[in-house]
Parts: sequence; structure tokens; C-alpha cells
Amino acid sequence: MRAAVLASETDFDGWRRAARAMRLAGVEPAAARFSVAGAEGQGGLFDEPVETGPRMTGENRDERKEAFTVSKAFVDLAREVILHRSADRFDLLYRLLWRLRDEPDLIKVVSDRDVAEAMERAKNVSRASHKMKAFVRFRQVEDARGEAWVAWFEPPHRVLEKTAPFFQRRFTTMRWAILTPDGSAHWDAETLSFGPPATRDMAPAEDEVEEFWKTYYASTFNPARLKVKTMQGEMAKGYWKNLPEAALIPELVAASAVRTDVMVAAPAPEPNARFVRAVARDLHAARPDAEATPDSLAAVERGVQACRRCPLFRDATQGVCGEGPKTARLMIVGEQPGDQEDLAGRPFVGPAGQVLDAALEEAGIDRSDVYVTNAVKHFKHEPRGKRRLHKTPNAGEVQACRWWVDAERRLIKPRVVLALGATAGLAVLGRKPVVTKERGQAQTLDDGSVGVVTIHPSYLLRLPDAAAKAEARRGFIDDLAAVRRRIG
Ligand code: URA
Repeated sequence: MRAAVLASETDFDGWRRAARAMRLAGVEPAAARFSVAGAEGQGGLFDEPVETGPRMTGENRDERKEAFTVSKAFVDLAREVILHRSADRFDLLYRLLWRLRDEPDLIKVVSDRDVAEAMERAKNVSRASHKMKAFVRFRQVEDARGEAWVAWFEPPHRVLEKTAPFFQRRFTTMRWAILTPDGSAHWDAETLSFGPPATRDMAPAEDEVEEFWKTYYASTFNPARLKVKTMQGEMAKGYWKNLPEAALIPELVAASAVRTDVMVAAPAPEPNARFVRAVARDLHAARPDAEATPDSLAAVERGVQACRRCPLFRDATQGVCGEGPKTARLMIVGEQPGDQEDLAGRPFVGPAGQVLDAALEEAGIDRSDVYVTNAVKHFKHEPRGKRRLHKTPNAGEVQACRWWVDAERRLIKPRVVLALGATAGLAVLGRKPVVTKERGQAQTLDDGSVGVVTIHPSYLLRLPDAAAKAEARRGFIDDLAAVRRRIG
């Protein structure tokens, strides 16, 4: 037997060095043993340690002469499979590595038992990482440095290190920790680090964010689309115990038949004004979050998720509120979330957002200083095959959603409110502006702040002619630069 001891359960580099050395030494898979330092069953009485040799760096490139290469596809596959919780994953990968010597195209033979097994495990790992992105729920704590967020999560495979960078990108400005039985990830708003395993009691049990998740889940739960099997496939029961909203599932499922009947009997989704008002009147009453005048941005967020002021909530994934500093001097108002914003729950993160970001940068405005929001908080669209096509919100929908835009303005108190396009103009000015005529002009708003209208960045995306596009973009940047000078 030849034995290699890896530094940790996810020590891919260690496995790679050891496996390479073993294959070079002609160690047959049946004679190779991999174990993890400190783990049970490590090392056998007659095991001979493997000499893993130096790392393959630029300086020792000559030693590669006797080495071998494997395809990137295999390396990528192995990186994933290592994270699988199965005890024999190192052996499976070594068997594949060994066989690649005589069968260089083995990885392409998906009917091969070892290849199929590795692919299945890689798929499980990728699914576990995806679920982690969806199901981690942070709870708020206070420490010496102020507000921080902690989540407890039990992934079926060891995906913490693989998935933590996603949370780093998503919650860059928050300090957070994700605790799991395999290890913990810590982000202090500057550095991502990994620490020892944790236990569930190290994470806080409940906070008010819990209520937010329950409200959000209950408001996005569509009884007419309830497929219990599919739901359990997507949100396997193993995850429920750490999801605050899962406590509602039995109740919502039980009530779904009744609610479906109510929905079937309800009017079609393209409503007339009277229906909008009726919906607002009837449904509001049962939704205090949507009714109460919000006194904080957190209350706006809760209220938007519970909002029934117009029927757009029905087909949207979630309400998308504004984001940015509470002290922002500039508020930018777009039209409504698009497909990507609807999924991400954040404004201007899709293609129009990229155009906006680039133009802001050129105009010398730092987006992180700006509060960015939309006139309408739910994505209005119609299905077209697998795609969801944007539909412009009508005046009734914009009017219904002004409740939230006004609340955001009241709370942020920006010096300048910049409306992107006519729909945003309607939400800010209370009348639909003629953008081509009024763009760039400062208009005094009822609270004393300044309103400015310019084009919407998605207009630039639609212009087919390169010269016209460049000119329109220049004008957009000029408008932004004028706004920058105004906010000082
Ligand atoms: N367009 C908008 O108006 N707002 C968004 O958030 C995205 C695209």
C-alpha cells in the first residue's frame, strides 16, 4: 500500500500532488490509499508514505519531463468531486487519473462507470453550492464593531470555500460569517478568511429579519403554482430547519386550494383603474406592512414585499427596492426592475445597469454614493417562450408605486432626484415629461429638492446605429456630469 495524508477534506492541491507522484511511481489504484490528517481510519499498519515531490512551479519546470499532463476538463471535474462528502472520492479520482494514461479521452466517455460516477458527484456538489446561495439566511448580531450578520448552514457537501466568494461579492459592505459543521467563512468587509467548524448553537436563533423572510415568502408564494414534489426537489426538507420561512410551508400548502379558488375567481391581470383601487383596498387591510407609513428603509423593504397596491406582485419573483447610502445626495430613479433585477432583488444589475455604471463612472459619479431605485418595484413582463419580455408599467401602476418612491425620497432626502426616462419622470414629477425637451433642466420639486430628467440607459442599448448611439451616450454623460456639479 502507498498512503498519502491530505491536509483537509477539501485539499485538492494535496490530492493532486500525491496522485501525480503515485501515478509516476506506477502505484496501481488498488494499492493507493488517501486519508485526511486527523480523520478516523488514517493510515494502515503496512502503509508506505508517498513522497509527493516538489510543486510544479516555474523554477522546477525541467522536472516535468518525466511528468504528464491531464486535460483541464479532468482537473475541473476533480476539483468539484473532491468537495463531495463520499469517503471514496479520492480513490475514484485516482482510478480515473490512472486510466487516463492509456485512455486519454476517457473523460468524454460519459457511459463509462467511473466517469459517470464522477460527473454525478460533481453535479451534486454544484447543486449543493447553488442551494447554499439560495438558502443561507443571515441573522443580525451586534459586536464591538457594530452590526454584523451570522448564518448557520448545513450543506450536504463541502461547498463552503467554493461558495463563500459569492456572498463576498453579494454582501460586500456587510460584515458576515457563515458557520457550518465543516468550517466557517468570515468576511470583515475587506478580507475573506476561513476558520474552524462550528455548531448550530454558535449562531443566533432569531431576529426580526426572520419576520421579513416569512412575509416575503408568504407574499411570493403562489398557491396556483404549487407543486409539492417540485418544491421539495428545489427546497429539500433537509434545508427547512434553517429557513425561517419554511415554518409557513405546511400552513400555506394547506390553504393553497382555497387561495387558488380565490385567484381563479379574481379578475384578469391587466386591470382597469377601479380594479387597482379595489385590490389596494381589500388586500391592504390584511397587510399592515404595506399600509403603514414607512419610517425606515427596512420598513420600505418589508412593505414592498407585502405590497398589493397593484397586481404586478403576482408575476414578479420579488419586489426590488432601492439601494445606496441613507445620506445620498443623489437619488437615481429608473423605470422598473428588469429580468435580472427581479431575480437578484437589486436595482440596475443587468445590461441597463452596466450602461448606467459605465456612464456614471465617466461622469465622475461613484455609484456607491448614489441611492438607486425604480419608479415601479415589481417586474412587469409577459412570457415569450422561456423568456420574460419587459412591459412598460402603466400610469396606474406608477401611481400606486409612488407611495414607495415618495417614502424613499422622504427618508433619503436627496438634493437631486434624477429620473431616467419618462416613466421615472412621472413618478418624480407627478406628470409625464417630454424627455427630449426637458432633459437636463432643473425642476424644483414639492419638497424643495431638484428634479432632473434624462434618457433611460436601455435606450442606448436599443439604438442600432453606432454613431447615433455614441452621440446619445455623450448626451447622457453630459446630463450626469451636470448633476454631479449640482450636488457638489
Ligand atoms: N431598468 C430599470 O429601469 N431599472 C432597473 O433596475 C433595471 C433596468
